[in-house]
Amino acid sequence: MAQKPWDGRFSEKTDRSVEAFTSSIDIDKRLYRQDIEGSIAHCNMLAKQSIISEDESSVMIQGLGKIKREIESGSFVYDDSLEDIHMHIENSLNEKIGKVSQKLHTARSRNDQVALDARLYLREESEKTIKLLHDFREVIIQLAKRHIDVIMPGYTHLQRAQPVLFSHHMMAYYEMFSRDTQRFCDGLKRINEIPLGSAALAGTTYPIDREYTAEQLEFHKISANSIDAVSDRDFIIEFLSAASICMMHLSRISEELILWSSYEFKFIEMPDSFATGSSIMPQKKNPDVPELVRGKTGRVYGNLVALLTIMKSLPLAYNRDMQEDKEPLFDTVDTLDACINIYIRMLPNLKINKDIMYKASNEGFLNATEMADYLVTEGMPFREAHGCVGKAVSFALENKKELHELTLNELKKFSLHIKNEIFDLFTPEQMINRRKVFGGTATENVKAAIKKAEKELKDEIG
Ligand code: ARG
Repeated sequence: MAQKPWDGRFSEKTDRSVEAFTSSIDIDKRLYRQDIEGSIAHCNMLAKQSIISEDESSVMIQGLGKIKREIESGSFVYDDSLEDIHMHIENSLNEKIGKVSQKLHTARSRNDQVALDARLYLREESEKTIKLLHDFREVIIQLAKRHIDVIMPGYTHLQRAQPVLFSHHMMAYYEMFSRDTQRFCDGLKRINEIPLGSAALAGTTYPIDREYTAEQLEFHKISANSIDAVSDRDFIIEFLSAASICMMHLSRISEELILWSSYEFKFIEMPDSFATGSSIMPQKKNPDVPELVRGKTGRVYGNLVALLTIMKSLPLAYNRDMQEDKEPLFDTVDTLDACINIYIRMLPNLKINKDIMYKASNEGFLNATEMADYLVTEGMPFREAHGCVGKAVSFALENKKELHELTLNELKKFSLHIKNEIFDLFTPEQMINRRKVFGGTATENVKAAIKKAEKELKDEIG
């Protein structure tokens, strides 16, 4: 059993069950790279400040490099009795270079060390998420561009409302995922703050140079309060919350793809390579991918609530409860990454059933608002026009017709204002292209929105 760095004041060995219970190595071993990177920077700083010698520093840095290679080659041995990744690395360094390794922890505590590791990790992961969302938004734009002539019914209350361009509908998701991107970018500002130097909670008496450590690790800011720096996990909670919102958006698009690919809608068809069959019903082609994305949204929300609950009411500063932050964080990172990735692959392969969508946008009185607006332009107050069209709809329903299938004389029964020109307004194309208001579904607007989005994406890379 390995020696514990803190067992000087203990007269009994830790019970095996306690070691097993308190160990987090299975989970936090993922932070080995960040831990080593942070230790190297700390080591350099200690030498620069003459707190340790240059020789001691270079022996330690070499040792840390060796440990990294061992971990990456799979030859590193993990041991439950060493609790976490920080103690594993410290212990292994001791085995490799002997007593001098014990100087690494000068002016540092595991409390500021773990906070540093989490920030380094999350900074990298946030950047990856932002890049992934960039690719996903690009895929959405391409889909919208390719199908710019597809007309579909827009819905409210899941009832057919007014025709829209399929591309307009897709670009709505572009906007949502762009805001998600902004949320991750914004979170980065607060992640990018170095807690190292806070030590256990009160700071340190050693003449350390926090600026120098920050520079090496490319942090933009140095934490201003040592207690806060080791106590809070709000930067993780922010990430989990941005991830939850992003999953909520993914879940909504998933729900739509599931509905649209049903026999009832038939608006789209999932590519065979992204669907699965049933073991009993030979006719089935199931939209498992969007279903699972929709389902996984639950665990991402769960992770957010878990960490909020872990942190709730914790007295300052560090408490061991906080070790529980990593599982929800890693699970969220993995889940979000998997979901966006699969969407990037799946979305370009959707088959769009243009004719069926068009037919659906021409049935179900989607032009009722159009008729009311027409009556308004003919001088009728909107509320009166609304009532008038309502009556026309009910007449058409009784006669099993659409509004545009009624004759002019039939329409005139509801208002003498109506002239033949109304029929021009009734086509889905007209209904769409007359909605030229900024943000509306007119083809020229959607084309402009696509162009703007393309430029936005290009600028983001630059
Ligand atoms: N494994 C611990 C965690 O993840 C590291 C910090 C331990 N600090 C302590 N004082 N026990 O939170």
